[in-house]
Amino acid sequence: MRIIMLGAPGAGKGTQAKKIAERYKIPHISTGDIFRANIKNETELGKKAKAYMDQGMLVPDELTISLVMDRFKEPDAENGYVLDGFPRTIPQAESLDAALREDGSQIDHAVNVDVPDGAIIERMSGRRACVNCGATYHLQYAAPKKEGVCDHCGDGLILRDDDKPETVEKRLKVYHDQTQPLIEYYAQKGVLKEVDGTQGLEEVFSQITAVLGE
Ligand code: AP5
Ligand code: MG
Ligand code: ZN
Repeated sequence: MRIIMLGAPGAGKGTQAKKIAERYKIPHISTGDIFRANIKNETELGKKAKAYMDQGMLVPDELTISLVMDRFKEPDAENGYVLDGFPRTIPQAESLDAALREDGSQIDHAVNVDVPDGAIIERMSGRRACVNCGATYHLQYAAPKKEGVCDHCGDGLILRDDDKPETVEKRLKVYHDQTQPLIEYYAQKGVLKEVDGTQGLEEVFSQITAVLGE
């Protein structure tokens, strides 16, 4: 099964993608997580990406597309994946379509996790992230068992550099300008599934499993 997660920054794409990956036994591919791992390891790609990410801007398409195309070549992605944070622009979606056409495959579901902007800022300020394994927590809604420590791998949790309120506002603007048009793009392909992302974590997940229908 090939799934795309759509939604504003902080809508819960990563949270739900992890649960989908576990349930359907497909890899979770998050471009944001890949960029953050590169920043942590101080790679060339990480240095380039950080300059854009810290300002709430998108990393240029050419860097992002080649990264995802390389990831698709890993054997675990052969039978499907859940994409989180990609595609994020129309050119990225078109490159994905071209790659899928080459393999004779297609996207099965594009799940839009809908959360209004007003609810996003509160979610972001409470978020804590593990850069080592990509797990996400929220001080109030999804707290780790031990404060500041990842439940899954024991690494320290961070407040992301791009979760400051002024950067979140910039990311929301970039989302509305460049990413929101993808909702219509996938609606036209007949694969768009809408879920109400303002509900609790488990409630959102049951809406998703219901629309995936498997
Ligand atoms: P990325 O890491 O993808 O960030 P994003 O899209 O802005 O989304 P977030 O990860 O912030 O939010 P999310 O929807 O995953 O929400 P989460 O589950 O964490 O990208 C970061 C940057 O990298 C971009 O700005 C860009 O610069 C660059 N980049 C990445 N991909 C790119 C691409 N394709 N092209 C170009 N540039 C790219 O949830 C948020 C919080 O809310 C958490 O604390 C969570 O615990 C909590 N929460 C989740 N669901 C609920 C719920 N139902 N109720 C209560 N709390 C909830
Ligand atoms: Mg995320
Ligand atoms: Zn971890």
